[in-house]
Amino acid sequence: MKKTENRILKTFPELVRPVSEDPRCLKMKEYIQHGRINTYDHCMDVARTSYWLGKKFRLQLHEEELVRGAFLHDYYLYDWHHHEEPWHGYTHPREAAKNACRDFHVTPLEEGIIRSHMWPLTLRSVPKSREAILVCIADKICSVRETLFCR
Ligand SMILES: [Fe+2]
Ligand SMILES: [Fe+2]
Repeated sequence: MKKTENRILKTFPELVRPVSEDPRCLKMKEYIQHGRINTYDHCMDVARTSYWLGKKFRLQLHEEELVRGAFLHDYYLYDWHHHEEPWHGYTHPREAAKNACRDFHVTPLEEGIIRSHMWPLTLRSVPKSREAILVCIADKICSVRETLFCR
């Protein structure tokens, strides 16, 4: 933990730990996301990349909500490869947001991050905050990386 100008800055592990160590989130290790990457590792990857992008471009962000929203963005809790839902790509942000709101104290900013992370596929769920835009971009970077290099 680092203190600057009366603000206590938490490190990435400190920010993500309250959700990443929750047993309900650990369930995501059971589901494959891309290649041989499970949903838990994908969510951690997206959270870390979002946080890193924020630092890299020196953006003013709500870091705690950015990391929590990013980590919970795919908290839909099923293996989409074996799921009957044919529109998983469109519907899972809604499912993830519903689960996150049920299991955690999710802020409106965090809910927005989760709901809009598949934009532009989910046409009407447009990212409306800097944090949501960042997660939307980080998700695409991580998904391509995992699909191409983690087979
Ligand atoms: Fe997703
Ligand atoms: Fe994702």
